[in-house]
Amino acid sequence: MHSMVSSYMRQKLNSEQKGKPQSVKSLIKARLDENVFGLLERVAQVGERRDMSVYVVGGFVRDLLLNIPNQDIDVVAEGDGIPFAVHLAEEFGGAVKSHEKFGTSVVTLPDGCRIDVATARVEYYQHPGALPTVEKGSVTSDLFRRDFTINCMAVKLTGVDAFCLIDFFNAAADLKNREIHILHDLSFIDDPCRLFRAIRFEQRFGFKIGKQTESLMRAAIKKRAVDSLSGTRLFNEIKLLVKEKRPMHCIRRMRELDLLQFVSPEMLKDREEVETLERLGSVFSWASTITLPREPEIWRVYFLALFYFLEEDAFLKAADRLQLSARMKNSLERDRTTCRASLRRLQFQKEWEPKEVCRTFADLSIDAVIFLVALSSSSEIKRYANIYFTQYQGKSQPSLTGDDLVKMGMNPGPVFQSVFDALREARVMGRVKTREEEVALVEEQFLKP
Ligand code: CTP
Repeated sequence: MHSMVSSYMRQKLNSEQKGKPQSVKSLIKARLDENVFGLLERVAQVGERRDMSVYVVGGFVRDLLLNIPNQDIDVVAEGDGIPFAVHLAEEFGGAVKSHEKFGTSVVTLPDGCRIDVATARVEYYQHPGALPTVEKGSVTSDLFRRDFTINCMAVKLTGVDAFCLIDFFNAAADLKNREIHILHDLSFIDDPCRLFRAIRFEQRFGFKIGKQTESLMRAAIKKRAVDSLSGTRLFNEIKLLVKEKRPMHCIRRMRELDLLQFVSPEMLKDREEVETLERLGSVFSWASTITLPREPEIWRVYFLALFYFLEEDAFLKAADRLQLSARMKNSLERDRTTCRASLRRLQFQKEWEPKEVCRTFADLSIDAVIFLVALSSSSEIKRYANIYFTQYQGKSQPSLTGDDLVKMGMNPGPVFQSVFDALREARVMGRVKTREEEVALVEEQFLKP
């Protein structure tokens, strides 16, 4: 396995785990909630009873050293993790769900917390981008199969050296130097998801991807390693990136590394498009000052922004590449159309009457409102949005539906839009207040010969 290790790693491994093992027990006690510490102790007891070596690994250990709260407990058990997980569930009165093929389990505790349990294993990749095939091993091999040094630490929970840090790759130094390094040269080819994960951790912690790691990333991108990822995995990685606290930093980095081309070669090609996305942050701040019927879903707004500028053909191809669900694809399609229509209205009609304000905002999803504000260079849209959400909304919803209009003898068609515009306006202006008055208005304005 050492032959696979990158030259950067070989230097580090030489100095691996020198001297006395470092106990992090006091750090855990000082930094973690009492309950979490108690939980780890009980996990350890179950391990001791079953005479198994058990470790807490990965993001939990990384965040412990960074002093960032993390409730996701990933446990590795040497031996068979599945019966161990069953015992954990019994101990805590929780539920367990196992995945025999991967030797993994999820234990859900009565309070909703979850513990992920893995069997210490060696992984072999059948082909790049595929899910790994698994064989049993030890915690060392489990740590060697991971993505970045900072995610490769473990804390042993059982035995005489309980609560000692296991850090083969001197990740503590990488945390101190704020650097992201992979463990072996083929890491990004084995799992191209890591190209996105590297950006995720770099931007989340304000770290820097190491020089050698970055050049391996660029090489894997040049080889189009991302093409071997399924749409679902690619979608998921991008979603996780735009769910980070600073989505724009992640998007800029993806663009700089030319990763967006794997969704669509046309995506965010233009400087002006990027500038629109750059404005989203301040639009979210503005949105938090007005009363919206629901909070915008930030990641969805960024997805709309990524897809908005694509021509119809490129949009459809990109949606296919990411295997978007019909629901997601339709909602993006709808938001693209309504945003374009509203933008045209803004460009051609300077002063909007209440009916235009109502028509625009009644048709837009909240996520699209946010994007439209970023898209439009005029501040008028903010003013109209303010008027709509603070004064009109709620008041403007007609009680008649399309079915009602049909029952009244109307034929479905563009006229329905005019009817609803008129009803909304009349509601906003206080000219109609009841369903009966709406019926009277429709009869008067649209059904009289
Ligand atoms: N991992 C990996 N390669 C991947 C995905 C995951 O090596 N493509 C390893 C990493 O060691 C990671 C662990 O599996 O620490 C758990 O993965 P995940 O839960 O996605 O990562 P976290 O580090 O817990 O990240 P987050 O804080 O975003 O949950």
